[in-house]
Amino acid sequence: MSAIAILGCMWGDEAKAKIVDYLGDTADYVVRFQGGSNAGHTIVVDGQKFVFHSVPSGIMYPGTKCLIGCGVAIDPLGLVKEIRNLEASGLTFTKRLCIDEKVGLVLPLHQELDKVNESRLASSKIGTTGRGIGPAYADMTARTGIRLGDLGHPAYLKQRLKEIYAYHGQSLDAQTLKAVMTQLQEAWQVLKKYCMSVENILSEAYLSGARIIFEGAQGTLLDRTWGSYPYVTSSNTIVDAVGIGSGFSARLLDEVLGVYKAYVTRVGEGPFPTEIHGPLADKIRKQGNEFGSTTGRPRRIGHFDAVLGAYSARLNTLDGIALTLLDVLSGLEELKICVGYKLGGKVLTTPPAHPLDFNKIEPMYLSLKGWEEDITGVRSKEALPVNAQIYLEAIEDLLEIPVKVVSVGKERDQTFKIDL
Ligand code: IMO
Ligand code: MG
Repeated sequence: MSAIAILGCMWGDEAKAKIVDYLGDTADYVVRFQGGSNAGHTIVVDGQKFVFHSVPSGIMYPGTKCLIGCGVAIDPLGLVKEIRNLEASGLTFTKRLCIDEKVGLVLPLHQELDKVNESRLASSKIGTTGRGIGPAYADMTARTGIRLGDLGHPAYLKQRLKEIYAYHGQSLDAQTLKAVMTQLQEAWQVLKKYCMSVENILSEAYLSGARIIFEGAQGTLLDRTWGSYPYVTSSNTIVDAVGIGSGFSARLLDEVLGVYKAYVTRVGEGPFPTEIHGPLADKIRKQGNEFGSTTGRPRRIGHFDAVLGAYSARLNTLDGIALTLLDVLSGLEELKICVGYKLGGKVLTTPPAHPLDFNKIEPMYLSLKGWEEDITGVRSKEALPVNAQIYLEAIEDLLEIPVKVVSVGKERDQTFKIDL
């Protein structure tokens, strides 16, 4: 038996799905446990690109079952479209997808509220993905939310819909109610065969010695409690969310692997101490194709931040690092790693808690030499240019966690293991 969590450790888009896919060929189960269609998980196989939003990326392997735990927020209409699109690209779902009946639903109402909130709060805009994630999680916490299992009970569903619209002060005339009911019931016709108890499946899987991968979405710095609040998402993303969001206690994990890009990116608003602008940022954005897979937005770019990196390694009790997009740094003369923050005459080695302090800190950098060589064909640490090895080891030393997987390109095989 082995259960491994693969988690984003910065602000999302760390190429988590690529690592899940790389380690997933022998997985019996791949499980999503938080987030929703705000995620954009990309896998490239033989030049063909697959993008997943709510479906676990283990669906790529025909022998793997994919579970969506109760901590995920599902947009039922979007999920039906996602399943149809993936089926059209040749992937099969029959008897392979299970969605917990307790997952909270993202309704069209939540997507409208997400947009309204963003425009209302011009001064403190979050820059959300517009997928209705925040309002949907808020409703689950407020106990006004609707869950997947409710779709199988039309009279109850109708009552819950009236209540949720009233709770938000929105009018719901008979025609709109009928239209929403029809949309949801059409989605239910597709989704009901996948609706079951994920915690029961996982408990049996654990007892039978199955290999289980928990696929994180977003990243630690977007965690709604531990991230750069309020510029965060609305789910918890750290390792403890595995238990809350799937019913499989995080205590049972054998390994926690943290995914970090070799540099840092962020989409949306919020503090970013090591952010860079100008030609260097443009070059990295171009080489790394740093545009959102969910919204297409250009991603903000920064130097590797070992202060935040070590913070997230500690919160997630990491056993190892998967370092991705290392190839993107080829050709840069100098590489900088942030090793501390200056704030009010003091040096911090952990992030400040208050957002106002985040804007005042001054990063302190370690400067390393870059490398010229194209490393996309490299498949071992020893074959990397010496300066790339030094860069990788600096990250290991600063985070005090070994790098166990390295990715040097988009394709599945452009990846290698170190002592894993
Ligand atoms: P994956 O799983 C990067 C960001 C949004 C915004 C903030 C809140 O692909 O790494 P939300 O729509 O969640 O209310 O937006 O979180 N965000 C992500 N950034 N990758 C993601 O997912 C993200 N999911 C949300 O840009 O700043
Ligand atoms: Mg993404």
